[in-house]
Amino acid sequence: MSVKRVWIENLKQAAGERVRVDGWLYNRRSKGKIHFLQIRDGSGIVQSIMGCNDVPPEVFDLCGKLPYETSLSVTGTVREDSRAPGGVELLAEALDVHHVPSAEYPISKQSHGPDFLLNNRHLWLRSRRPFAVLRIRDAVITAVRRFFDERGFLCVDSPIFTPSACEGTTNLFEVEYFEGSAYLTQSGQLYNEAAALALGRVYCFGPTFRAEKSKTRRHLTEFWMVEPEVAYADLDEIMDLAEDLVVSILRHVLGTRRPELEILERDPAPLEKVASPFPRITYAQAVKVLREKGIDFEEGDDFGAPHETAISELYDRPVMVTRYPAAVKAFYMKRDPEDEKLALCVDMLAPEGIGEIIGGGQREDDLAILETRLAEHGLPREPFEWYLDLRRYGSVPHAGFGLGLERTVAWICGTEHVRECIPFPRMLYRIYP
Ligand code: 4AD
Ligand code: MG
Repeated sequence: MSVKRVWIENLKQAAGERVRVDGWLYNRRSKGKIHFLQIRDGSGIVQSIMGCNDVPPEVFDLCGKLPYETSLSVTGTVREDSRAPGGVELLAEALDVHHVPSAEYPISKQSHGPDFLLNNRHLWLRSRRPFAVLRIRDAVITAVRRFFDERGFLCVDSPIFTPSACEGTTNLFEVEYFEGSAYLTQSGQLYNEAAALALGRVYCFGPTFRAEKSKTRRHLTEFWMVEPEVAYADLDEIMDLAEDLVVSILRHVLGTRRPELEILERDPAPLEKVASPFPRITYAQAVKVLREKGIDFEEGDDFGAPHETAISELYDRPVMVTRYPAAVKAFYMKRDPEDEKLALCVDMLAPEGIGEIIGGGQREDDLAILETRLAEHGLPREPFEWYLDLRRYGSVPHAGFGLGLERTVAWICGTEHVRECIPFPRMLYRIYP
């Protein structure tokens, strides 16, 4: 009779039962007549205790020699033990080996350099840190989807192949497209605007691409972005939405992923402190802060990483900076009616040196002005005709933003670099594995 398979994260509910765990050998300690096997199955790690009298002698001997990452099934009884991680142990009665690695597993428990780990990302994923980070990433995704679903937003996907730029032409990936060429999308926003005018409150959540030549810890060439867009919304409304979204993500992660934060040795206290309202300052006020701190900065420029860090350091929660000079922002930004040189835009800067996690604002909704902006930015008219149509047929004020998933996950996890926050990072010098 086959025994019920139970995932390690659910073992506690099976205390006292005889079950089977299907997984891999993660670690082993042997003390004379007992093996302590650490088994992982992707949902967690459990210690399985195998005494020499619990199994046939040849199984016991084999078990002492199996290399790490041998795939195996252990059948045994679940015993509650408050000292064990996860609160349970598995008392082994039988072992089934599926595959014994043909060479020594390249990732040891000692520390490796980042390049080595990234080259072996396909295997590194099995280690504790990626386990924790990817489980937190998953919780962030779930929180985002729930948040928008509960508020009546519709998830409307945007295309990846596009005929035009959204965020400027300097970091576009051009790809062959039959007889011509296309670009990988930098943002779903423009299509989202069409969707918002059709369906009211929408969001898209997908991969976006930037040919970023910058080798910083915040930049990927492929990253995921969630982008809400709301018809009849203005800058203030979208800022409220951004704030609520971030609070709700943190609440969900803190409520469901405490053990993972612990694995990462991430102090949850700074995350617990984050609550509404977030401070809101203008670009001009932010520049003043930089001046007061004696930081070198040319007024009118966009903020770089050190500037964002200096500004966000003043607060224990994310800060929203509005009204940047329109000259440093994208063509679609609506101008501030009180100062034509400024854009009705917002960047949310996360604390702890993370910098910008959200960018967005109110969109230009007037046809003639938008036509002028396209020309000013040197953008071709033809691929944007459909976008201009949105200002020809029932144009309304509307606004939205994009939240970078990996930067948000990096902040929550306290990781040094965003490359750890996506399963297979794509960067200037990395497209393998
Ligand atoms: O500020 P960005 O460029 O805004 C837009 O793309 C808007 N069209 C979004 C919208 O309004 N619908 O990008 C938004 C966010 C940034 O705040 C950052 O978190 C993330 O996307 N991001 C990156 N993350 C990782 N690597 C990169 N190269 C990133 N570029 C932007
Ligand atoms: Mg931005």
